[in-house]
Order: sequence, then structure tokens, then C-alpha cells
Amino acid sequence: ADPDPLQDFCVADLKSSVSVNGFPCKPAEQVVSDDFFFDGLRKEGNTSNIFGATVTSANVFTFPGLNTLGLSTNRVDFAPGGINPPHSHPRASETGVVIVGKLLVGFVTGDNVFHSKVLSPGEMFVIPRGLVHFQLNVGEGKALAFTSFNSHFPGVVISSTSLFGSTPSIPNAVLTKAFQVGDDVINGIRSKFGS
Ligand code: GLV
Ligand code: MN
Repeated sequence: ADPDPLQDFCVADLKSSVSVNGFPCKPAEQVVSDDFFFDGLRKEGNTSNIFGATVTSANVFTFPGLNTLGLSTNRVDFAPGGINPPHSHPRASETGVVIVGKLLVGFVTGDNVFHSKVLSPGEMFVIPRGLVHFQLNVGEGKALAFTSFNSHFPGVVISSTSLFGSTPSIPNAVLTKAFQVGDDVINGIRSKFGS
């Protein structure tokens, strides 16, 4: 989904004071082989959080060699029962491959049709750009998946935390009407997401 590159590569200079759409390129004479390799997805992520899952990102911020190339990858680790909660990516479609365990993968279309399947190692999914999706570990042990995006920075909007954990918070009048429930329900959910 990102614009096409205008040169072979443009390793991001993340510290540049120049502000553009994307990042300016590090001078070509300073580019080294290591700019095109990344070992940050080797380690299992820490899944001790309320969701029991964690996403480790190889995007332009962690792997500046991706700048302008329209690609990035995540490692997603799941504790038993863990969930990568419903979220969407504003700037990319997503593919994923299950490496370990069993994941229930699902997304909802713009017409509110829910598509889902339980995937085993070697099996793959695709999430069309911008649609709300999740992965739930339905196996016995841990699970692991790698996901890829057609953007160097796909962005992520987590449904629960964006509605119930924003700063400042969205007024109860909005959320009680939107979800057709009382203040008690909204406050109960809010309390889990710190807003
Ligand atoms: C999984 O949905 C991910 O965004 O990596
Ligand atoms: Mn995703």
C-alpha cells in the first residue's frame, strides 16, 4: 500500500530533523550491509500482559533498511489462551503464517461478515487492508506466528484500547449510546484499559 520507491533503497535516517512522509535516506556512503539485516525477531516476546500475547515489530522504526520499500514483518508470540486482540492496520494488508501451535484467526468485512479458521503450523491467512482482525491461541501450549505487511509502517488501531483507553477519554455519553449499554458497563470496561 505504500508509494513505490524512487531509488534502489533509502535506509532511514531516523534522527534527521527533516520531516517528510516516510524518512529521509541516510547518505549512501554510510550505508553498510548490516542496514539490510535484522535479528530483532529471534527472541520470543514477553507474553505476561492482560492479553497473553505480544507483537514484536520489524518495521521502519526498528529496521530502518525497510524505509520506502513498502514491506514489514511482525513476530507474534502467544501464551496458552493468549489473544492478539481485535485491531486493524490503516496502511497495509497483512499475511501471516503459523509456525507453532493452533490459532483461531478471524476478521470482519465492511459488510459485517465474519471470516475465520483454525490454523496449524505452515498454514497461512490474509487480512485485507484496514479490516478488524484477531488471532486467538486455541491450542494446548504456546503459539507463534509471523505476519507481513505491504507497508514499512502499517500502523495499528486496537479496537478495545482506542475506544476505552484513549487520552483524554471518550465521553460516556458517546460510548453508552454507541454500544447501547449503561454507564456501569462502560466504566467496567474502561477500568481494564486505564481511562
Ligand atoms: C497480527 O495481526 C499482526 O498485526 O501482527
Ligand atoms: Mn494485524
